[in-house]
Order: sequence, then structure tokens, then C-alpha cells
Amino acid sequence: MDDLKGRDLKGIADVNAEEIKFILDVSHQLKRELKMGKPHRLLEGKSLAGIFETPSTRTSISFETAMMQLGGHMMWLDQHRLWVGEAAEEDWHDTIKTITRYVDGIAYRSIRRERLESAAEYANVPVIDASSPLEHPCQAFADVMTMQEKKGDVRKLKVAFCWGYRTANPPAGLTNSTMLMAGKLGFDLVIACPEGFDPDMEIKKRAEREAELSGGSIKIVRSYQEAVEDADVINIYSWVSPEVFARGLETHFQGDPEFREMKASLKEEWCVNKKTVSLARKDAVVMHCLPVSRNTEVTNEVLDSPQSVIFDEAENRLHTEKAILALLMGGYR
Ligand code: CP
Repeated sequence: MDDLKGRDLKGIADVNAEEIKFILDVSHQLKRELKMGKPHRLLEGKSLAGIFETPSTRTSISFETAMMQLGGHMMWLDQHRLWVGEAAEEDWHDTIKTITRYVDGIAYRSIRRERLESAAEYANVPVIDASSPLEHPCQAFADVMTMQEKKGDVRKLKVAFCWGYRTANPPAGLTNSTMLMAGKLGFDLVIACPEGFDPDMEIKKRAEREAELSGGSIKIVRSYQEAVEDADVINIYSWVSPEVFARGLETHFQGDPEFREMKASLKEEWCVNKKTVSLARKDAVVMHCLPVSRNTEVTNEVLDSPQSVIFDEAENRLHTEKAILALLMGGYR
């Protein structure tokens, strides 16, 4: 699909249903080829700048491995490598314009969405959101690929997306991207989260409009029971509002004392356990994008049960990112 060549992926909002399905088809193809030992050096000699403003295990390693397997190369760029720290601030646009003289694409994990938006504006190569406060499209692709592998056609699946308690304050990006996936691909998404932790309402409205065409639905409820009953998939994640995410960064991802105290009161109720999972269909799968706070967001018993597919989901980051890179950077024929 030539239409994807040279495009940015700042979120699931940037791609239509047909493009999403094509990216997923290519992801499955590249996974099969890798397992068969068939090389696919679709980006021979190409370079990717991986700019990461937070730590990352899965995203950084899967992007780096993806570029290597595609015949290219990724550079890990953080504040210690670039002139972007407070002490030596180079104009952000100058940094981006310089980087794009060397590389063929940028994967950017940002803690401020506006920096991702302006990187995409000033870069003349594809910019991929590697998680931002608004979206986490690469994780959403891996999640849908995993659902396809375990459940087949995702249309009309019931997906329970459960908020889990943890002390850290991750952004709501994955929740927002999952709403857009439900709207575009047509699955029923029920998000269970406490008051004050709703995902982005503008994105919800947009996803609902798209769901009218695809046959999907998006709903927010305040208890696990309503979300999980008869679900085919239980996906657990912890997130906070963009405002809290920004504040939390200043205090090591935990937020101010008042917020921490309020959040701690949710600890007992908002941990997915065996009883929660028993409300879902018997063949339901349990997902989590990782890293997970074990026994706080979800019990070990659930995470280590046969229903858990968390490491297949992590592996699929590699295959989906390879497809995204090969298509956006123009290597896929
Ligand atoms: N799921 C995810 O994005 O993991 P990392 O933060 O380790 O990249």
C-alpha cells in the first residue's frame, strides 16, 4: 500500500480501518517469515532515530531489533546524547531538522505531546509515536495482532479494558488508542476505571462516530463486573489524566501527596484477580502491555495462568513495528 509511504504515525487517529488491517496483515506475514527463517531486509541501509524521554524496555528493544532484522539500524537517543537537557537547550526544531539530514525515520517517546506534534511538523521523514500522553499506537497494534491470533476476527469481540492500581502514573495513551481501534475495527470495548481516570473524551466521541460505521462500541463503567462479564479479552492497564501525568513526572511518576492518598484508597477494589477473570468467558485471554506492577494491578495468579498471553503480546511489538517501519519508510513492496 503506497499510501502509507512517507506518512507519520502520530496515533491510530492517523490511519483508517483499511490501512490498519493492511499493517496487521503485513505484521502476520513478517512474523511467519521470521519463524521460517526467511530474511526480509526491506530497509537495507536505512537509519531510524529512536528518541526516548522515558525509560523503555519493550518499545526501545523491539524497535532496535526490528530495524536490525529489516537490514537497517536504530540509534537510541536520550537526553544524555542530544543537546536537549535544561542545561544546554538547543532549539527543538533545530534538533529535529538536523536529525532528519541523517536518518530515514524517527520513533519518538515523548512526555509532552506538543513536542511530538512539532517534531512531525518539522521532520521531512516519517515520525512514529512510540508512546505519548495522548496515544500509544504501536502498543495498540500489537494488542490487536494478539487478539487476532488468539480469537480470530476481532469484530464483535467484547474487550474489557480494566484500570489497575499502581503507584506509578503512566499516561492514558494506550487507552485512547484502544478506543480508536474499537471504533475503526468494530469491537465492543468496555473500559472499567474509577472516577477521575476517564480517558480522553474527544477521542471517545471520535471513536464512537467511527463505531457507528464499523459496528463497534465504546463504553465507560465504574466496576470490573460490568466490563468483564462475558468478555472475550481482559486487557489490564493503569493510567492517569494528562494533567496528573505531567505533574507526576516532577515527582518520579507518583504525583503529589494528596493525589497519591486518593489513589491509594482505590488499591483494594482495583486489582484484577481470579474472581474477576471468572466472570469472563471461559476461553477469555488476559492481556497487559507491560511493565506490570504484580499483585497490585493484577494478581500473579492471573498473570501466570494459562489464560495470560502477556509475553505473546510483548513479542508482537516486534512484528507490528517491523510492518509499520517497512510501510512508512517505503521498504515494503
Ligand atoms: N509497553 C511498553 O510501551 O513498554 P515499555 O515502556 O517498556 O517500552
